[in-house]
Amino acid sequence: MVGVLKAAGEGTRLRLLALLADGDHSVKDLTEILKQSQPRVSRHLKLLADAGLIARNAEGAWAYYGLAEDGDGAALAQWLIARIDDSDADRRRDIERQQAVRAAQQARATQYFAKVANSWNLLATLHVPEEAVEAAVIEALGGRKVETLIDLGTGTGRMLELLSPSYKRGIGLDSSREMLAVARSRLASAGVANAQVRLGDIGDPDVVVGPADVIIIHQVLHYFDDPGRMLGQARRLLKRGGEMIIVDFAPHDLEFLRTEHAHRRLGVSQGQMSGWAAAAGLEIAGWREFPSQDTENGLTVCLWRLTDKI
Ligand SMILES: C[S@@+](CC[C@H](N)C(=O)[O-])C[C@H]1O[C@@H](n2cnc3c(N)ncnc32)[C@H](O)[C@@H]1O
Repeated sequence: MVGVLKAAGEGTRLRLLALLADGDHSVKDLTEILKQSQPRVSRHLKLLADAGLIARNAEGAWAYYGLAEDGDGAALAQWLIARIDDSDADRRRDIERQQAVRAAQQARATQYFAKVANSWNLLATLHVPEEAVEAAVIEALGGRKVETLIDLGTGTGRMLELLSPSYKRGIGLDSSREMLAVARSRLASAGVANAQVRLGDIGDPDVVVGPADVIIIHQVLHYFDDPGRMLGQARRLLKRGGEMIIVDFAPHDLEFLRTEHAHRRLGVSQGQMSGWAAAAGLEIAGWREFPSQDTENGLTVCLWRLTDKI
């Protein structure tokens, strides 16, 4: 117990706990926020992880840190965080830097999509079984026609086009003006009149676009350092009893997707998804896997159905 209290009882480590309470981060982010050297930050993180206050998840060449989800360490971390004063000057500065780090990541993704908007066909090069996945997305809606469907990270608007017969009002949100331009022309030429697309940040969505009966997040989660936090934000747009359909990659080790294609997370495991869903007040109602057509170089895609726990 003394070891755990010593781990928590230090200024930088308390700051780290408060930062991680707002979502997972890589060491690089935390180094930028705290303005301390990477070895120093790593040492603090190791002490917190050894004490069971936080958890480390290695993912390819990077590691992400988040608060521990269960055990005495998790309970103690929550107790401490609830007592940290957000109006404290140091804490306010940390919050500002945390927002700046997130904004810079968002800007990098936006720059990437501005560049590739007119030629975006990465999924095809990864041998993803797109037709089977699209059929499963339609099937997940079970032939219903819902009032409002929101497509987060709509990109070229493909999901809005595909699901157009299944909703009365479709709204696509995306942070890239260039992608939205492609989506508008695609929806117009496909004759989709019941959908519109808007500029917006999913990390901080404007709740006036909701609430939705169904939210779809297709190949977007891996652009976020903390997909769990993003799901929590998306949950604010969902009607009570509503449903989310999420499509993303299973865990993989294609590091070039980070260096060349703005990905942050190398896929999503079942364990991660169930933890993030539970934290967002959702539960996994079903999931399916779609292995790549190319067993050597391709990626497996997963589809999850998350329902509101009410
Ligand atoms: C790989 S594309 C997927 C597009 C679409 N869902 C599809 O499957 O065709 C990812 C999209 O997410 C958008 N995006 C990334 N970060 C975002 C954010 N923070 N807010 C809104 N859109 C974002 C990008 O601009 C891009 O259009």
